[in-house]
Amino acid sequence: MVSAMSEGSAIKIADAVLLEEIDTALTGAIARRRFPKPLADAMTYAATGPGKRIRPLLCVRCCMAVNGGVWSAHPVVTAAVAVELVHAFSLVHDDLPALDNDDLRRGRPTVHRAFDEAIAVLAGDALQGLAWELIAGLGSRWSPALSWELSTALNDMIAGQVYDTVAGADNQNSSDEEKLKNTHRLKTGALLRAACRMGARCGGAEEPEPEHWTLKDRGNPWWGPDVDSAALTAITEYADALGLMFQAVDDLLDVTSDTDTMGKATQKDADAGKLTYPGVYGIDGTRREIARLHTAAREALDPFGPAADPLREMADRLATRTR
Ligand code: IPE
Ligand code: IPE
Ligand code: MG
Ligand code: MG
Ligand code: MG
Repeated sequence: MVSAMSEGSAIKIADAVLLEEIDTALTGAIARRRFPKPLADAMTYAATGPGKRIRPLLCVRCCMAVNGGVWSAHPVVTAAVAVELVHAFSLVHDDLPALDNDDLRRGRPTVHRAFDEAIAVLAGDALQGLAWELIAGLGSRWSPALSWELSTALNDMIAGQVYDTVAGADNQNSSDEEKLKNTHRLKTGALLRAACRMGARCGGAEEPEPEHWTLKDRGNPWWGPDVDSAALTAITEYADALGLMFQAVDDLLDVTSDTDTMGKATQKDADAGKLTYPGVYGIDGTRREIARLHTAAREALDPFGPAADPLREMADRLATRTR
């Protein structure tokens, strides 16, 4: 646990300390819900295994960046846990035979291999359901804005999975480059964006009241706050560059890395007919795109000064990650 002394102060907190706080909350949230045993075991296996926890860390670090570097656990740790639960759900279903049909994730058997397919489908469902229970439990002060961010991202992620997985799904864009970016923004970028925006909101980047919300038009009507504050706009620019960069790196590592290093199957995307960064830009072109997006992510943080240093370091690490 983060010590009480560091609450509310702008002292430097190491990622490792925040990650411990996040993992304690993640494990506790699943345990407290008292799901039937095989389901609870599969959810714990999926959500608390050796993943990188990038999304919850981004959530907390974006919160701190807009809040002048000040750490405060409530409500951001709950928001961070909810995002990671949705991410875990997306991976469990992504690995299913009907989607990517993978046997290895994070160096261990995938959930449908370690348990069975029925439990994997249900564990994915329940990970998502638990995320909504946690957000709802934050009450009217936080729940509307945070659930709007997470639900729109989740639906975008699923749309992206359709474009990525279902042959012939109408991607609405003409060139391969546009299709690639659209798919990656949706399947991967949306959740990273939600992680960052939810954190920024928890840090006070915007406090929309429901009466200021308007009916938005993004192809479908839904409700949401009608203006972004300057801080939320900057965080979103960071997140969008980072999100695209993250999947470009994932695609690159599929080609250039190996199963032992990655803890998941590699050399799969091309054979599976996926539209990938190396497929569209080539390996050198992908590296150039990663460098461009890395710079864009860093530049977006200019308004925040030193409070955003951990986010700059995360962009650096994610641009050069090897797993
Ligand atoms: C894997 O995400 C899925 C993609 C969006 C590429 P991560 O690389 O963040 O997976 P974990 O959580 O660290 O295992
Ligand atoms: C995963 O993309 C995106 C989501 C889970 C939404 P990939 O299919 O490329 O991720 P990995 O390579 O299996 O981790
Ligand atoms: Mg996939
Ligand atoms: Mg996959
Ligand atoms: Mg991949």
